[in-house]
Amino acid sequence: MLLVEPAVSPTNSDPRASHARFSTSLTREHGYEPLRVEGTLPQGLEGTLLRNGPGLLESFGKPYSHLFEGDGALLAVHLEGGRARGAHRVIESAELAEERRRGRPLYGTNAGQVARTWNGLRRRMKNAANTSVMAWQGRLLALFEASLPTEVTLDDLATVGATDLDGVVAGTFSAHPHRVASRRTTYNFGQRVGARTLLDVYALPDVGPASRLTTVPLERPVMLHDFIATERHLIFFVAPARIVRWRGLLGVGDFNDYFRWSPEDGAEVIVIPIDAPERVVRFHVDPFWVWHFGNAYERGPDELVIDWVRYPDFASLDALREPGVPVRQGQLVRSVLRPSQRTLSAPEPLSDLPCEFPTIDPRHAGARVDSIWVASDAARCRIARVDVEGGGERVWELPVDHRPSEPVFVPGDAGGWALTLVYDAVRHESYVAVLDGARPEDGPVARVWLGHHTPPTFHGVFLPLAKR
Ligand SMILES: [Fe+2]
Repeated sequence: MLLVEPAVSPTNSDPRASHARFSTSLTREHGYEPLRVEGTLPQGLEGTLLRNGPGLLESFGKPYSHLFEGDGALLAVHLEGGRARGAHRVIESAELAEERRRGRPLYGTNAGQVARTWNGLRRRMKNAANTSVMAWQGRLLALFEASLPTEVTLDDLATVGATDLDGVVAGTFSAHPHRVASRRTTYNFGQRVGARTLLDVYALPDVGPASRLTTVPLERPVMLHDFIATERHLIFFVAPARIVRWRGLLGVGDFNDYFRWSPEDGAEVIVIPIDAPERVVRFHVDPFWVWHFGNAYERGPDELVIDWVRYPDFASLDALREPGVPVRQGQLVRSVLRPSQRTLSAPEPLSDLPCEFPTIDPRHAGARVDSIWVASDAARCRIARVDVEGGGERVWELPVDHRPSEPVFVPGDAGGWALTLVYDAVRHESYVAVLDGARPEDGPVARVWLGHHTPPTFHGVFLPLAKR
């Protein structure tokens, strides 16, 4: 059944104002409780959608200097038997708990200068756990690229605490793990910044212990947000977003001051063969910025096809800080990487839609896929299924004042479904939109209303009921 769009007329079509209301802290935490379903949830769509994002956007009344500093909050929406239940909780990191105990900001750019410098010198920072979430071997891990994973219970989203996965994670653990379905293994990376900067690569098999696959030196500390995996290779695009170490060590400046765009460094491509990680291939190309990859696959013995969202520079870091400035404005492109020739082809656009948050059918991660889902934020917000092999795209244009998050694809009968968490600025309430994967342009077949507003989320996963 298709839904009639909400009967409430838009009262606030100023994107800056609606974004400002969107980017306010979560005001209500709760365990699982019934949620209102509008329309009919499809049979077969059963499981839990989990999303993570900054839930608290200020501390003790003072706004954080950047969305990336916000304390993480995990949302769970459980769908079963045509009904929905939801839970939403702020992740209580050890540092947030300490701040609450002592009644003032102690970490990040909101702390006093003495505390900031002291934190820098002793390498202490808050593990905000605010970026993504992964399920691994029955454990739920909230991820934050600058720290260890934080374990959370699936039953009521209670925070267990930071974990180094039994001593395996040596430094940070990125918020962008990628599972290679055919290898039944999830890969991830982290950085260690010291006299040398090291890139650690981790393997988390579906069965058995996690391990460090290899460690590769980097030329310098950089913001490295994502990578991508094929069935035989792990691929890193190291863009020239330098971390300004002295500022971090002394705690000087606000969040954006910790990074410096240095196009003169160029970008480095690093290719690590999974079965022979010591045979690393690396070379430089012209600079670009990338937040996220969509997918990659092996097309021939020496040909890796990589679909990613490209930016000419790092201006989007600032855009993320400014309420109302559209941030989903990268370009989905395809590049072909030939490791033996050390070449990366010029990027070819896959879509004209400015977009971000590319996601795919998880059953085929690391292999060829037909389509990539994206969120687009231009004059109107859109969710699109870009058909990357055949060309073309199918687009749901959201109502005015509705802002989507990353679409999460759930395989199922026919075309499966895409789930996206939408903020309705008119109602100041968020809902999960369920799109038919075959016909997203028809709009949601069901909406699950949360009963309150949810601040922006970055990444999420869907755990099918059978796998819980
Ligand atoms: Fe991300």
